Amino acid sequence: MTTQEKSGASLLQDERYKTIDRTIKRLNQREDALLEVLNTAQEVFGYLPQPVLRYVAQQLHVPLSRVYGVATFYHMFTFEPLGEHTCIVCAGTACHVKGSDRIIRTLSEAFNVQPGGTTADGSFSLTVTRCLGSCGLAPVVVIDGQVHGKATPEGVYAQVAQILTVAETLKQGAR
Ligand code: FES
Repeated sequence: MTTQEKSGASLLQDERYKTIDRTIKRLNQREDALLEVLNTAQEVFGYLPQPVLRYVAQQLHVPLSRVYGVATFYHMFTFEPLGEHTCIVCAGTACHVKGSDRIIRTLSEAFNVQPGGTTADGSFSLTVTRCLGSCGLAPVVVIDGQVHGKATPEGVYAQVAQILTVAETLKQGAR
């Protein structure tokens, strides 16, 4: 978080905060507004930095503790910046039964990253989440925002490896 993001005056000029405001306005005090607003905040910031959580609490007129309560309950929220590429693996019951733990282990070992962590070079984050609501497709993974059902450790590994190789090649080409 930059100093600029912390300054109250500049918050108002930051497009990302404006997006949060628009979501709040659209939801118009609905019961589930907090969850939706946190979703929006994570989408635009990529994670939930502390000043953003404070801002959401203030704008929704709810205690900061409640915002933290919701943000920490759902595994889809993260408090650290994610890597350039991400793979979310569902570890809900249906996906677990169909072997999602093998996918997690394969990615973790192959890319040297802890579940819930990001590689040292910041290129890849491995996130483990609760049920994504597509149990019929178990095991489910989301690679860079794209949902893949009936995933296999080999298939997910190959796809992530390809994405990271292409990204690295592009970076080298730009140097
Ligand atoms: S348990 Fe994985 S989508 Fe429901």
